[in-house]
Amino acid sequence: MQTVKVDLGQRSYNIFVGEGILSAAGDLLKRAGIKGKLAVVTNSTVAQLYLDPVHDALQSSGFEVIPILIPDGEEYKTLSTLSTIFDRLISERFERQSCLVALGGGVVGDIAGFAAATYLRGMPFVQIPTTLLAQVDSSVGGKTGVNHSRGKNLIGAFYQPRAVIIDVALLSSLPRRELVAGLAEVIKYGIIEDPVLFGGLEEKLDRILVLDRRLLTEVIATSCAIKARVIEKDEREDDHRAVLNFGHTVGHALEAATHYRKYLHGEAVAIGMAKAAAISYQQGFCDAKTLGRIIKLIKMAGLSTEIPQEVSTQSLIEGMELDKKSADGKVKFVVCTAIGKTCFHLLTAEQIAAALGK
Ligand code: NAD
Ligand code: GLY
Repeated sequence: MQTVKVDLGQRSYNIFVGEGILSAAGDLLKRAGIKGKLAVVTNSTVAQLYLDPVHDALQSSGFEVIPILIPDGEEYKTLSTLSTIFDRLISERFERQSCLVALGGGVVGDIAGFAAATYLRGMPFVQIPTTLLAQVDSSVGGKTGVNHSRGKNLIGAFYQPRAVIIDVALLSSLPRRELVAGLAEVIKYGIIEDPVLFGGLEEKLDRILVLDRRLLTEVIATSCAIKARVIEKDEREDDHRAVLNFGHTVGHALEAATHYRKYLHGEAVAIGMAKAAAISYQQGFCDAKTLGRIIKLIKMAGLSTEIPQEVSTQSLIEGMELDKKSADGKVKFVVCTAIGKTCFHLLTAEQIAAALGK
């Protein structure tokens, strides 16, 4: 098992990464100082696969466990689902020192984290992420929240977990499309911070795709460590944390332009990263070799690098302008200057769309 510390003073926590560590979840929670009753929030799909082993592992360490099930799907990441979680917490008499455990992908993690941030003005919570995207990205860093009918993640809070328990064995049941989409975020960490990770992916991607668990442990722990270092510098995205948005400006716009139906988040981010790399090259920030390596690796993962013809320039511009990360009419666009190096470049949505050749 590897342990990655997120150093945030009083809000510090450990990320545990390993194979089969779900069975040690109770002990890991105790190590994180968790006491009292546990609410395990999960969805119907993940419950069928992993609720029993999690329940047993926690109960055998002496915890009282109350499962709270929500429906599966991004469309349920809403205030109304949140309200059903509060109803159960209240009727089961959860107290401020009780703990909420999020067992699932990013949807469960985001909504359960927000429930923990707001129930009784904040109760401890622990993430047990079960998708690759959640294991390398959404379970770390404390962004929690729900969607609003006018946009994604518009309501939320920064609220850090007390621990993150990542069992790479859980990925064996994940549909391949979800696994590949999660890989986009791993590739992103290589591009923004770590040429060694990027080079390792170029060499060993085939082993990751067949779920070599030792390699997965290494790659996931490295990804989490990169995210942890970014969060430590800028927890609330005042500045540096925005580097994690590499590929996301165009990716988010593409998701919005296709009404969140065509792409998984990572698939849209992959296209966004290819375009961010192309813009970085066009505008003289990086060389052709860097651009070529990025495009090749994204394709090797089985991800697309092109915006479909039918997506209009206007819809992309509207998507970028709606993105809550834009300020003063300009987007803080993340460009790469080399593998492992980035900088911010202020661009309007029109300038980005023009550079896309759309
Ligand atoms: P998801 O949570 O919808 O999970 C994808 C699908 O996989 C679901 O059907 C789920 O039930 C299923 N699943 C989960 N684990 C499984 C397993 N081990 N085996 C089989 N099936 C499994 O999607 P996601 O990609 O994990 O997360 C997307 C969400 O994360 C979005 O809402 C996005 O906004 C959010 N997000 C948050 C952050 C953050 O920093 N908080 C970062 C990135 C994305
Ligand atoms: N997923 C980007 C962030 O956590 O800031």
